[in-house]
Amino acid sequence: MPKILVIHGPNLNMLGKREPEVYGSEGLEEINTHLTERAQALNVDLDLFQSNHEGQIVDKIQAAVSQSNAVIINPAAFTHTSVAIRDALLLLEVPIIEVHLSNIFKREPFRHKSLMTDVATGQICGLGAHGYLLALEAVAKLI
Ligand code: DQA
Repeated sequence: MPKILVIHGPNLNMLGKREPEVYGSEGLEEINTHLTERAQALNVDLDLFQSNHEGQIVDKIQAAVSQSNAVIINPAAFTHTSVAIRDALLLLEVPIIEVHLSNIFKREPFRHKSLMTDVATGQICGLGAHGYLLALEAVAKLI
């Protein structure tokens, strides 16, 4: 079965409690449950990973080079700062979908710039938790 790595970046473990007016009321566990259900229907395997640490995310992406058929990533705050995560994504030769719950372009100017967008195959933002399911459907089609 194709294997898809889903990476949730810093503070996304606090979803549900964290600025629900911006990020919604769904917790990360609930999002992962919905992803797992959809993955079963699409016949793909998921590796779900959350970290608050840049280096751990880099390590996980490096491991995906030989282990994953696609990557879905919400780099959270690292979206706007991390050359290291961008460089790691450049190692991949598989589809990459960048997901943001909020519409980063409607928010503070420092969020308008993503270091990942031109490395990713596509980006989904502003659709809340549903964006992850759309990303999963997209990669299932692409692989
Ligand atoms: C986010 C947007 C980022 O700017 C922010 O730092 C996050 C979450 C989103 O999903 O909307 O932590 O990636």
